[in-house]
Amino acid sequence: MQHSINVRSQHQHSIQIYKIIDTSQVMSSKIILRPAQRSDISDLALLGNAANANSVLHRRIAPSQDQSPVGHYQWRRNLVRLRFPAPDIRTIVAVNSSSGELLGQATWAIEGSDTALYKKWTGESTWADWLENKLISIERTWSRYFSDEFIDYRFLDQFLAAFTGNQRAQRPACLHCHLIVVKPDIQSKGVGRMLIDWGKELAVKEELPLFLESNLEATGFYDKIGFSRMNKDVVVSPDGQDSICIPAYVWEGKEREGRWLERDMEFDGEGERWKWKDAVLPK
Ligand SMILES: CC(C)(COP(=O)(O)OP(=O)(O)OC[C@H]1O[C@@H](n2cnc3c(N)ncnc32)[C@H](O)[C@@H]1OP(=O)(O)O)[C@@H](O)C(=O)NCCC(=O)NCCS
Repeated sequence: MQHSINVRSQHQHSIQIYKIIDTSQVMSSKIILRPAQRSDISDLALLGNAANANSVLHRRIAPSQDQSPVGHYQWRRNLVRLRFPAPDIRTIVAVNSSSGELLGQATWAIEGSDTALYKKWTGESTWADWLENKLISIERTWSRYFSDEFIDYRFLDQFLAAFTGNQRAQRPACLHCHLIVVKPDIQSKGVGRMLIDWGKELAVKEELPLFLESNLEATGFYDKIGFSRMNKDVVVSPDGQDSICIPAYVWEGKEREGRWLERDMEFDGEGERWKWKDAVLPK
């Protein structure tokens, strides 16, 4: 059974449900998709760390994470907290309907200030969100200098600078998946697909493409669920050590194929690669 309920703000306190999905064929209970609440922050932080434990990038950001589990958790928790007051970002979670256990999360950002969705989401933002954002940012700065000694901030700063620099290639208005993680012991059971399907439905409704950057470990997932790999991977070598490759993916959807993307005929590597059509890029 699929049951859609209106998309509403995570800034409100009552728990709304987007969808209830009967997964009895692969799991013993149903899964609920709903907006993340501030009461989920601890679980979201634990889940983020657990699911990224083997990611090459995260190992380089927090090389001694195993020796400082509490500090690592606190660092992640502050990152998670910042997503709640951000006006252009929404996080949804997949939850076991019987136990309430958090199984996965996806964070979406709307890019394109002239889109209806951007106006809607940012229009829901309040002065309290602004203040919360400032307070958490101050706390993060304090943590950086006084408690996060196991985070390699030098690497992180260089990585972000290189990544942002590389990203300057423009793209059209889109729904950008910033993050998706599924609890390690429940991966490959369809939860990731459900979280992405939520974004796909919203993207179709809002007439937007989906965009995301993948880590190398997850490219097989996006290939499987209908995403097109873009022609240029972002490759950064922040500290002169082994470079980190970050492929970019776009989803248009079958009915909208060719609206934003065209095949890059000059790509001479393995498989097909895609590029934005000139006409959709901002002038
Ligand atoms: C990547 C991730 C979100 C996928 O979620 P999931 O619940 O495991 O994925 P699903 O079960 O919905 O997978 C859908 C299909 O993709 C396949 N798949 C999932 N992860 C894959 C991977 N890393 N490589 C290749 N195929 C993968 C599944 O086997 C499934 O195939 P099927 O339709 O033939 O059964 C999850 O594995 C995860 O959290 N990984 C660690 C963190 C991470 O890498 N996040 C992505 C950051 S870009």
